[in-house]
Amino acid sequence: MQTLALKSPGRNGKPARVRLCALDDLPVGLGRPFVVEGRTIAVFRARDGKVFATDNACPHKNGPLADGMLVGHQVVCPLHAFRFGTDGECDQPNVCAVATYPVEVEGAAVFITLPAA
Ligand code: FES
Repeated sequence: MQTLALKSPGRNGKPARVRLCALDDLPVGLGRPFVVEGRTIAVFRARDGKVFATDNACPHKNGPLADGMLVGHQVVCPLHAFRFGTDGECDQPNVCAVATYPVEVEGAAVFITLPAA
């Protein structure tokens, strides 16, 4: 798991945009975990090229979403197979959504934006 730290951790209440990795570091059809400023974030690259990011911990029982398989633009939790979309919503009733993070692909680089601290 790759761990990243911001150069200036004090973000003054503003969102922080971080270069996460090269696009080629993300396997097509799978997820990969990154630790960014103490948060473990799962980043996915769908077969059609869409890249999206969620918290790694499944809100059901903390399954590692980065280890889940992608079905289209949904990640399937490896523990109980609940599905979460790119908006973080779960396909099961009474399960909270997982947090998501804006992702941008610029050329060959992937950037993520963390909320204001
Ligand atoms: S821990 Fe993810 S579906 Fe149960």
